[in-house]
Amino acid sequence: MTVKLLFKEDVSQIIALYNKDFADGWNAKMLQDAFDGGRFICAGVFDGDKLVGVITCSKAVDDADIEGVVTDKDYRRRKIATTLLDFVTKTLKNDGVKKLFLEVRESNDSAIAFYQSQGFEKISVRKKYYQDGENALVFVKEI
Ligand SMILES: CC(C)(COP(=O)(O)OP(=O)(O)OC[C@H]1O[C@@H](n2cnc3c(N)ncnc32)[C@H](O)[C@@H]1OP(=O)(O)O)[C@@H](O)C(=O)NCCC(=O)NCCS
Repeated sequence: MTVKLLFKEDVSQIIALYNKDFADGWNAKMLQDAFDGGRFICAGVFDGDKLVGVITCSKAVDDADIEGVVTDKDYRRRKIATTLLDFVTKTLKNDGVKKLFLEVRESNDSAIAFYQSQGFEKISVRKKYYQDGENALVFVKEI
């Protein structure tokens, strides 16, 4: 397995992974716009040339948002999301980022368990944050 930064030319592979088994995914246009915005960091884990995990982040001056992390269903519980989070954390820390924030659906037990396993702490609830009316939990981690 290898982990590396991803770029605009990787958009179709990223979208294919996101949309495979995760409905909250990005579409290609959103992702291309994010790359063009210049504050976006995306990393992937490859098994050979197959992309099996992706993390997307957007960076401000001294904090950053984790937009999403997805591991291919066949590769879960093998520390791929952990590897991705460690990788972008190092990159962001080198860039002066001190805090990571994220929002996650209240019902997304596996993601919540993952983020808590990585030292994120719940700080608030955003009521009806998602279009379908579901609440978002907001988590933070100092890095
Ligand atoms: C959440 C997700 C990214 C985790 O990916 P992963 O590569 O399987 O995670 P890891 O193997 O690095 O897990 C690290 C730890 O997180 C916790 N964890 C991860 N998935 C879990 C689950 N389904 N149930 C309970 N704990 C879980 C565990 O503590 C795990 O360590 P362990 O396996 O030694 O017990 C993956 O389940 C996924 O892609 N879900 C769909 C997309 C999604 O909801 N993303 C998050 C919102 S953007």
